[in-house]
Amino acid sequence: MKKGMKLITSAVAAVTAAVIAGTVCASAASLGDVNGDGKINVTDIILVAAHIKGKRVLSKTATAAADVNGDGKIDVSDITKIAAHIKGKRNISDPDPEPDPEPTGSVIEVKNGVTYVNGILVVNKSYSLPENYGNGLTAETQQAFYNMQAAAWNDGISLWICSGFRSYWTQYNLYWNYVNRDGQWAADTYSARPGHSEHQTGLAIDINNASTSFNGTREAKWIAAHCADYGFILRYPYGKEDKTGFMYESWHVRYVGKDLAKKITKSGLCLEEYLGIDSYYH
Ligand code: DAL
Ligand code: ZN
Repeated sequence: MKKGMKLITSAVAAVTAAVIAGTVCASAASLGDVNGDGKINVTDIILVAAHIKGKRVLSKTATAAADVNGDGKIDVSDITKIAAHIKGKRNISDPDPEPDPEPTGSVIEVKNGVTYVNGILVVNKSYSLPENYGNGLTAETQQAFYNMQAAAWNDGISLWICSGFRSYWTQYNLYWNYVNRDGQWAADTYSARPGHSEHQTGLAIDINNASTSFNGTREAKWIAAHCADYGFILRYPYGKEDKTGFMYESWHVRYVGKDLAKKITKSGLCLEEYLGIDSYYH
């Protein structure tokens, strides 16, 4: 083959390869608008993801648009920024938010037999309540549940309280019935000993159906996705059994207030991990 012919063939091959590889030729570098179509949407995320995976070559302009945080690299943090922009959480050019400070050390205070860790009332296998503590759901918990119930209803989801406040003696009867039925080892995986149930705080609610058959239902998914917006956390999350001391309960929520609920949920930690405490019978 002649030299000139060879050059043309390689140029054609290069263009073909670029087209196959999906080279993006944006005309203006607008942050996040990787394909230069004037919009920032999921198509841009797909392009950036394909680039990161080595499946797409980006033009110079597209590269500039994809490096949203301007750190000279195109990586998953750029995708995070584009996604936050699409979800309306941050503008593309906003600086990254400061991460929430990690909890440092645990300040444990006991007042009248009630334990507060970093100011949060805690009841688990390690920390108990006095026998006479509690007299119903707290007004805030009740109201937060009603708000959540109304929002769920708007989404076509029906939620109700199947068990709210339980006194020390109600829990006593429940627990010992379970022990009689299943033995103490088994009972301790799903039922708290009297004085150790969060239901005695008036801050905990079992929703709809306190049974493993509730797991994976539309209602359980709705609760997991939205309860933090109303101030609740899923208290016994899946995969945290060794930290909480109890099996996964998709139906049991604990009121901690909106700010903290959002922080804890976002952290992916259970309450014990978040507060740096343990949960076992001493
Ligand atoms: N099921 C929860 C752990 C309780 O008994 O309080
Ligand atoms: Zn419960």
